[in-house]
Amino acid sequence: MHKQDFGHYPATRLRRLRRSPALRALVAENSLSAADLIWPLFVIEGENKVEDISAMPGVQRHSIDRLVAEAKKARQLGIPALALFPKIEAGLKDSEGSLSTDPDNLVCRAVRAVKAAVPELVIICDVALDPYTDHGHDGLLRDGVIVNDETVAVLVQQALTLAGAGCDVIAPSDMMDGRVGAIRSGLDAAGFEQVSILSYAVKYASAFYGPFREAVGAGSQLGGDGKKTYQMNPANAEEGLREVGLDLAEGADMVMVKPGLPYLDVIRLVRSQYAVPCMAYQVSGEYAMLMAAIENGWLDRDRVILESLIAFKRAGASAVLTYFAPFVAEQLIPR
Ligand code: PBG
Repeated sequence: MHKQDFGHYPATRLRRLRRSPALRALVAENSLSAADLIWPLFVIEGENKVEDISAMPGVQRHSIDRLVAEAKKARQLGIPALALFPKIEAGLKDSEGSLSTDPDNLVCRAVRAVKAAVPELVIICDVALDPYTDHGHDGLLRDGVIVNDETVAVLVQQALTLAGAGCDVIAPSDMMDGRVGAIRSGLDAAGFEQVSILSYAVKYASAFYGPFREAVGAGSQLGGDGKKTYQMNPANAEEGLREVGLDLAEGADMVMVKPGLPYLDVIRLVRSQYAVPCMAYQVSGEYAMLMAAIENGWLDRDRVILESLIAFKRAGASAVLTYFAPFVAEQLIPR
């Protein structure tokens, strides 16, 4: 039985429920609130420093003291979670991404500072080597190949380092096979059984990450296949279900689909198969596209941003990582 009744005109007039703002609100199938937002923020060394990112107008990199101010703003706006991304100075990178496991690295210091100032915010950190490797790959490179199992061993150490700094949610974004299980065992063995894992389970080899790579200064010299030997082919959707299935079996608490708007079908597919919180990442290139049109006066800023985000809710996303988070949260405050 289909749940729709196939009433027809003139007895059925769908416009009756669109007559007024109150009626439209009453029958809305989805809603967006600040609680649905995760705010990705870029961190740099230094004091009282804020840098613009040319391909992401309105988004900045912040030194830790300025990041703390942003975190306080997030709490005031009702945004529950931040995702922190470090921009590592070129001189500190090496082929092994050694700094990733240093408990005093930039992102660990940022986590400690934000947790100390705003303990109730959920702090999410990426596990992947790309901010730290001089070649810009998420894993270790041996004879031109990204090696899986050796990388996973380092990722476990990176996850433990982040958990030790106070990170609440470990988010492996590297797409190595088996990393979720290895990280879960590592965390549990070290007494971090309450630290959760948000797996970037369905992450595509996407051109939409371009502005992010400028923001963190990584990935301009990846070589031939780029990240295609570990990130997914944009042609595939069902393979995403295998990725989600494996990550859940290995202990992921939440999964993510990334990028966002071009992959709403995949979010819907995941939600139709698995009862698990599914996050979506409206990535840097999506932000850049919208901002380019907004700044040219071609799209209406307030309306197009809200419409882009309700689309994620409609597709079934539990929450959305978006650079628009503070702007949107401000819009959503009832006045
Ligand atoms: C690192 C990572 C990337 C993004 C988030 N974590 C880039 C990549 O995989 O190359 C992209 C986020 C964005 O574009 O906003 N693994």
